[in-house]
Amino acid sequence: MEKADKTLVAYASKSGAAEEAAKTIADILKNSYNLEVDLVNLRKEKPNLAQYKNVVVGSGIRMNKVYSEALKFMKQDFENRNWLFSFVAEELETQKDMMNHVRNTS
Ligand SMILES: Cc1cc2nc3c(=O)[nH]c(=O)nc-3n(C[C@H](O)[C@H](O)[C@H](O)COP(=O)(O)O)c2cc1C
Repeated sequence: MEKADKTLVAYASKSGAAEEAAKTIADILKNSYNLEVDLVNLRKEKPNLAQYKNVVVGSGIRMNKVYSEALKFMKQDFENRNWLFSFVAEELETQKDMMNHVRNTS
């Protein structure tokens, strides 16, 4: 069995901003924190959490909604993993609306 100590940076992006943010986060975790990081596009792959200790989920937002692939991914049980959600949006108020949206659909 693989050791469950890797870091996953998984993102859903339509026009590239969340992808760019995810790549930056992955680079910082690799280069400054020496972590072993997998960068995964959720619109292409559905990663299995088993091998990960840390999980970062990134998404763009349209019409006040997190992209469906990211929302679906966030709904699973992260158990005792460390997690971070990272969102890219145009409007500051969207951040609050989006957190309510995630809460209400979880
Ligand atoms: C059709 C459309 C709808 C959008 N709706 C919102 C929105 O409701 N709130 C917001 O803050 N930004 C909104 N935006 C801006 C996007 O969040 C922004 O472009 C972000 O970069 C998208 O992420 P992505 O480039 O990773 O796809 C919208 C953009 C588009 C094109």
